[in-house]
Amino acid sequence: MRKTTVVSASVLMLSGLGVLAQQSDPIRQRQNLMKNNQEQMRALTGMARGQAPFNAATAQAALQRIEQNARQVPALFPTGSQQGKTDALPVIWERKADFDARAVKLEQDAKTAQTGITDQASLQAAVQRVGQNCGGCHETYRRKES
Ligand code: HEC
Repeated sequence: MRKTTVVSASVLMLSGLGVLAQQSDPIRQRQNLMKNNQEQMRALTGMARGQAPFNAATAQAALQRIEQNARQVPALFPTGSQQGKTDALPVIWERKADFDARAVKLEQDAKTAQTGITDQASLQAAVQRVGQNCGGCHETYRRKES
C-alpha cells in the first residue's frame, strides 16, 4: 500500500504539466469518469439480461471499476467547479456531505456486490442494487436533459 502511494506520487510529479491540466479541469475528469461508469453498467446489464454470456470474473471487474470510480467522486467536485460546461447542479455544494455520502454508498454497494455473484440471477440483483445509486444521485444533483 505504502509503496504504491510513494510510486504514484512520484509519477504524478514527473508528469507535472499533465497533472496541472487535469487538476484544473475536474469537470472533464468527472464527466469521463461517469462515462466509464456507464460503460461498466452497460456491460453488467447486458450480461444480466443474457445478451452477453455470464462471466463472474468480468462482472466483478466491472463492479470493481465502479467501486474505484466512486472513491474519486468527492474530490472531483471541488468548490468552484460548478462553473463551466457541467450538468452538476449548484445544490451539490450546498449539501456536499450528502453528495459525498452517496458516492461512498455506491462505492460500498459495488464492493459488496462483487462477492455474491454466482449466476445471472444474482448478477441481476446486484446490478439493480448498484444501479439505484446512479439514478438516485442524478435525480437530485444532475441537471435533467431537456
Ligand atoms: C454522488 C452522485 C453520483 C453518483 C452516485 C453517480 N453519478 Fe453520474 N453524475 C453525477 C453528476 C453530478 C453528473 C454531472 C457531472 C458534470 O456534468 O459535471 C453525472 C454525470 C453522469 C453522466 C454524464 C457524463 C457526461 O458525459 O457528461 C453519466 C453517463 C453518468 N453520470 C453515469 C453514472 C452511472 C452509470 C452511475 C452509477 C454507476 C453514476 N453516474 C453515479 C453524479 C453522480
